[in-house]
Amino acid sequence: MTEKTPYQVLARKYRPATFDALMGQDVLVQTLGTAIDLNRLPHGILLTGIRGTGKTTTARIIAKALNCVGPSGAGGPTPDPCGTCDHCRAISEDRHLDVLEMDAASRTGVDDVREIIEAARYKAITARYKIYIIDEVHMLTKHAFNALLKTLEEPPPQVIFIFATTEIRRVPDTILSRCMRFDLKRLDEETLIALFSCILKAEERASDPESLALIARAAGGSARDGISILDQALLHCNQDLSANQVRSMLGLSDRSHLFYLLESIFDGRPADTLTLYQTLYGGGAAPLSILEDLADLTHWMCRLGVTGTMDDPFPGLSDEQTEQAKTWAKKLSVPTFMQVWRILSRGLSDASLCPNVHHGVEMALLAACYLSHLPPLTDLIAVIEDNQQKIPHITPDVPQVRQAVPVDSPDLTTFEKVVSFVRDKRELLLESQLKRDVRLIDFKPGNIHIALTATAPSNLAILLQKKLADWTGTPWIVRADTDGDNQHLGQTLHEQHTERQQKIRADLLDQPLVRGALDTFPGAEIESVDDDSAA
Ligand SMILES: Nc1ncnc2c1ncn2[C@@H]1O[C@H](COP(=O)(O)OP(=O)(O)OP(=O)(O)O)[C@@H](O)[C@H]1O
Ligand SMILES: [Mg+2]
Ligand SMILES: [Zn+2]
Repeated sequence: MTEKTPYQVLARKYRPATFDALMGQDVLVQTLGTAIDLNRLPHGILLTGIRGTGKTTTARIIAKALNCVGPSGAGGPTPDPCGTCDHCRAISEDRHLDVLEMDAASRTGVDDVREIIEAARYKAITARYKIYIIDEVHMLTKHAFNALLKTLEEPPPQVIFIFATTEIRRVPDTILSRCMRFDLKRLDEETLIALFSCILKAEERASDPESLALIARAAGGSARDGISILDQALLHCNQDLSANQVRSMLGLSDRSHLFYLLESIFDGRPADTLTLYQTLYGGGAAPLSILEDLADLTHWMCRLGVTGTMDDPFPGLSDEQTEQAKTWAKKLSVPTFMQVWRILSRGLSDASLCPNVHHGVEMALLAACYLSHLPPLTDLIAVIEDNQQKIPHITPDVPQVRQAVPVDSPDLTTFEKVVSFVRDKRELLLESQLKRDVRLIDFKPGNIHIALTATAPSNLAILLQKKLADWTGTPWIVRADTDGDNQHLGQTLHEQHTERQQKIRADLLDQPLVRGALDTFPGAEIESVDDDSAA
């Protein structure tokens, strides 16, 4: 057998061994350091943060800090573990008998936890503390959590639990309240570049600054992701890292997909938008940089539309795509570009705060896809103000969207027809309110202006507006005046109905046949009048 050492991935090779080497986590390092110094570390510690920001690493450094005996063999707990004593070495090499790591993702059950609890009752074998590191703790079942609770409440002395999780919201409050919580931060690009530079120096490799910036951007805040990309890039490039090679490795040089993605957004095709996004993502592009690139491309197209000239071509677009971009730039209005750009930019900050960046980006893309079809806000306001008949069509022309909205096409060309429609929908209370409590000021399909009587519920207009929009799938505007006595405005439908009945009754009484019948049967009266236009 050859003694050649196997290739060790850079992320493992450069796992920080001390708090000093842990980058971008200053607050955590300081708090933990002080707690260890003062011997105030609690028995339950919870580390949370996105993947690859140093949770497992921190847990191991804490284990070393608590169990280190220093080169002399007589040292006590220290925030600066020596790294050379038996304990430090064994922990680094993952073979310490009293430092036990368990992956809750694969051992989620109550029996797994009972095993730990049982073992925790025995003293540490060789070290000062017995330390359990439970990774992905949110994966434990409810029973498993419950089993842990009692031990966490009164842990045997010298036992420390360190939990790590990427999904803090799935950890029950009962556990949270029994632990000291530390949040590991996403590493910003500057910190990541500094980290990569250290690794390159140790590996005796060189690179241009742009390559490192590209990798840092693709890492999305995770040190492990960043180092893995760097690792891959170093294997790709035999010599120094070059930005071009990194770009092609990350799938950033071919902008076709980016262009088609933006096209599907402007076209309002949500299903295509998601598929194209998946293609880019699957090709290695980081979710946030996809949004960022789209925002850049939107800005570039908008500029092209406004100035009509192209100062710089958009990097990576083919000639044909540049021509298509010009067509889009002419076709779309500046407010539309602004709207899409705003959604993408806001999506960028929203998604970066999401526990799952990927989901955040998808939602932002869908929002852009739908909203790129909204008429600009200024137009909507103008419509409302002018009380125009024509209501802008704000449902995007997207098949999926059409399916989602229940569409009826009833005849709603008069207020009376609207009221009958409300009756057809079995909204009897609303129907009665519309008849008795509403005086019509103005009616246009899609736009109703009414006055409310003193007995009307104050939310009547909003209610009607919402119902009509839901039923018809198009927006309705219902404005209501509530102030003062609205008598002069004309009658409610109910009043009109009563008046009509009285008139019919009077007309009937004038008829000789009816008169004759009444005279023949003394005491007879006209009790009711059957009126077709019942109200
Ligand atoms: N803050 C950091 N500073 C320097 N390197 C880091 C940092 N965080 C992570 N790394 C690098 O990433 C590797 C993985 O880190 P670690 O296992 O601690 O991440 P984690 O937060 O536990 O991730 P996961 O959620 O996937 O378990 C480390 O070996 C190290 O190379
Ligand atoms: Mg981990
Ligand atoms: Zn040590």
